[in-house]
Amino acid sequence: MSELQNPNVLMCGTGEYTTGWTGSGASTSDKKIGVVALTLFDLRRLGKVADLSMVGVSGKKFPEIRQHLEKNIAGVYKDMDVSFEEFPKSNLVDTEAYKTAIDKLSPGQAVIIFTPDSTHFPIALYAIERGLHVLVTKPATQLLEHHNTLIEAAKKHHVVCWVEHHKRYDPVYSDARAKAAALGEFNFFNAWMSQPKSQLETFRAWAGKDSDISYYLSSHHIDICCWMLDGIAVPTRVVASAATGIATSEPYNCVPQTEDTITLLVDWESVKSKTHKGTAVYTASWTAPLKAGIHSAQHWYYMAEKGDITVDQAHRGYDLTYDDTGKSWVNPFYMKYSPSESGHFDGQRGYGYISIEKFIDAVRSVNAGRTQPSDYDKHGLPTIANTVLTTAILNAGRISLDEKRPVGIKNDGDLWVLQ
Ligand SMILES: NC(=O)c1ccc[n+]([C@@H]2O[C@H](COP(=O)([O-])OP(=O)(O)OC[C@H]3O[C@@H](n4cnc5c(N)ncnc54)[C@H](O)[C@@H]3O)[C@@H](O)[C@H]2O)c1
Repeated sequence: MSELQNPNVLMCGTGEYTTGWTGSGASTSDKKIGVVALTLFDLRRLGKVADLSMVGVSGKKFPEIRQHLEKNIAGVYKDMDVSFEEFPKSNLVDTEAYKTAIDKLSPGQAVIIFTPDSTHFPIALYAIERGLHVLVTKPATQLLEHHNTLIEAAKKHHVVCWVEHHKRYDPVYSDARAKAAALGEFNFFNAWMSQPKSQLETFRAWAGKDSDISYYLSSHHIDICCWMLDGIAVPTRVVASAATGIATSEPYNCVPQTEDTITLLVDWESVKSKTHKGTAVYTASWTAPLKAGIHSAQHWYYMAEKGDITVDQAHRGYDLTYDDTGKSWVNPFYMKYSPSESGHFDGQRGYGYISIEKFIDAVRSVNAGRTQPSDYDKHGLPTIANTVLTTAILNAGRISLDEKRPVGIKNDGDLWVLQ
């Protein structure tokens, strides 16, 4: 066992979640200054990480990104250094710059991936095979087969590989999970998550082409449901249904195959009782009304043998009204951007921040020989091994839509497979 060291960290992706800077300027969502870079700048200030780097596809974006971070982070919070090394350099455009950036790191250092869904797998695998610890955003991968490959690769290279399912650190969700454990056999789960139609402009580059709204939003509640049902029930069959016509019409004009609202109907079977079966319905939409006062609607209902749980995480009893924009419900429990009384960043207790900090803590602990990557599988954390059923359901949902058939989920020895 040795002293804790501060790893260098590479951020893959330079967009909304990493910096708050999108293709069309500063994000207009609830993440105007992003989450990943801000958290890592603060963790560097607090002495948990060392050098930071960032990789995208186009080096041309970096002058604007740096200006944005300088003004809205360094200019707002005290003692915040927003420097980082960039890839690709010199205004180059290179879709494989992530390889150059990863090659600069040494084994034991870390990579945080927030790039389009279809790129998660190749980037994560490349990093793991070089002995780097990986935190990849949801959906970890689009195919179950790829998820299984990452589980194996992380085991083989003895690295921490987690999925950034930050809702597991939301105090309400984690408390609800603990309460559900005492409610007996699972019976019914119904989840709704949506964002306003304006997101179809923000997501124009990939909406309907590279991924769908189920992968993008239902991944959150599917993961929470799988986490709550760990040791209680397993999913066995998925049937998907989609509403269409809004995303593909004026003014959004998304590609013809873009769905508006996707519903996955999932059969679950008890792991202890032969007679108990449950049903889950996961719905996600990116054609919700504008001006609803919330960025993400997110609520669910859980019913079990001995009781039920209702959660509405869009309306937390805290709302504001402005003369020009009307009412809005806000959520400082996720990212608190208002500074502390000393003028420093003050969001260390937000679950967006905690999700990244816990990963960095695990990396430092494993590097110092204090813990093993597999220890975290036993702690209910969103490790790549603990999140396999989330990907199984999402992948089965996509196949069900494309092939218009139910898709089975089965445990084949040590491996989860689709049928
Ligand atoms: N924005 C959110 O609120 C949010 C929240 C949770 C998870 N996510 C996940 O984050 C991912 C997208 O990130 P975002 O929201 O910041 O989107 P974004 O579109 O704003 O940014 C994507 C970034 O990825 C980069 N990129 C694309 N291909 C790449 C490659 N081959 N190598 C390196 N970089 C590449 C782009 O240059 C861009 O900087 C998605 O998987 C999404 O599900 C987003």
